[in-house]
Amino acid sequence: MLGTPLLDAEKIRNDFPILQTQVNGKPLIYFDNGATTQKPQSVLDAILHYYTQHNSNIHRGVHSLSQKATEQYEQARATVQKHIKAASPNEIIFTRGTTESINLVAHSFGSFIFEGDEIIISAMEHHSNILPWQVLCQQKKAHLKIIPIQASATLCLDTFKTLVSEKTKLIALTQVSNTTGVVNEIEHIIRIAKQKNIPVLIDGAQAVPHIAVDVQKLDCDFYCFSGHKIYAPTGIGVLYAKQNWVEKLSPYQTGGGIIKTVSFEHTEYVSGALKFEAGTPNIEGAIGLAAALNYVNQIGMHAIFLYESRLLQYATEKLRAIPEVLLYGDVPHKAAVLSFNIKNNHPFDVGTLLDRQGVAVRTGHHCTQPLMQCLGVPGTIRASFSFYNTLQEVDFFVTALKKAIKMLS
Ligand SMILES: Cc1ncc(COP(=O)(O)O)c(C=O)c1O
Repeated sequence: MLGTPLLDAEKIRNDFPILQTQVNGKPLIYFDNGATTQKPQSVLDAILHYYTQHNSNIHRGVHSLSQKATEQYEQARATVQKHIKAASPNEIIFTRGTTESINLVAHSFGSFIFEGDEIIISAMEHHSNILPWQVLCQQKKAHLKIIPIQASATLCLDTFKTLVSEKTKLIALTQVSNTTGVVNEIEHIIRIAKQKNIPVLIDGAQAVPHIAVDVQKLDCDFYCFSGHKIYAPTGIGVLYAKQNWVEKLSPYQTGGGIIKTVSFEHTEYVSGALKFEAGTPNIEGAIGLAAALNYVNQIGMHAIFLYESRLLQYATEKLRAIPEVLLYGDVPHKAAVLSFNIKNNHPFDVGTLLDRQGVAVRTGHHCTQPLMQCLGVPGTIRASFSFYNTLQEVDFFVTALKKAIKMLS
């Protein structure tokens, strides 16, 4: 398996201008893809092309430029729909990112939450999938229930089953942990929820870049992700909401672009995804996101998953062989994320020494402080891989890490 060429990473690297640059006088090794990914030339070109050829406001003008911009924006929605296999483009709402997608649901779905109701999340959630529910529960006198994790940093599914009751009004879970890369058995969880008619929101921020997603097969009610984690610009994200929720939920924000008629007495909103996109949206972002999805689809999500799994397996084996390394969430079902610490050392010190050698990793709590408390550590070092990373880069990273360990001992 290790020798099988799944994709041509060297050729792919040429598509990413930033990967040709240096950091601290060393060739950049970018292992911080969980925080944000680098952008291929085709995405940069799509944005430049939009601004140089079609820049105009959308949905408002009869003039040609406005129609062209509208067409591209709506085409981007259709590209997202196809990518996550939603039933209709009307189920694809553009937001600023995963955080805004979850806040939108907490705000709009929040009107169905009442005193004594319960919302279930897990101990491994990103703060973006904790705080909106915490605030909602405080406002509504509802209760937040937490699925705990086991020693392996995986969800305790037996406890999950005991948490579900007739009071449960929503389950909001991450598909892939941003801190450990652990892939949750969301299919199983959604099946249990559906038997009891409980809506499910999936935070797909760390899943979409690595795994082919089919929201209809998953049968989730909401699915959220950020463009910038899948090679698109920052400031654009997606909320998939099943058609019935698109119709049932009220707008998150109000203003221009979401109405059929307005008078001082009464406003009638448009139907469909546009109802949730008040104001001028991030047109360049949507176009950039479509270009990014077209780019990854040219490579193929299956090839990406296999290649990144190989990188992960290779790096995991190398780190397991270093006695000072403590790995977190070292289980079979993972996306390409490695979380670890060096015994008796603070993650920041290790991260700084790696940076000096040109290796970009993330250190700290990764916006998952409750998970850090469960693991009993202040933070970890996270190396998160993309299909543009190589086995040679992993080798360099391991050598740099060994050097850092020596310097710190
Ligand atoms: C699992 C998860 N959820 C939510 C977010 C928030 O994403 P954004 O900052 O793009 O809104 C992140 C970002 O790291 C994440 O990893």
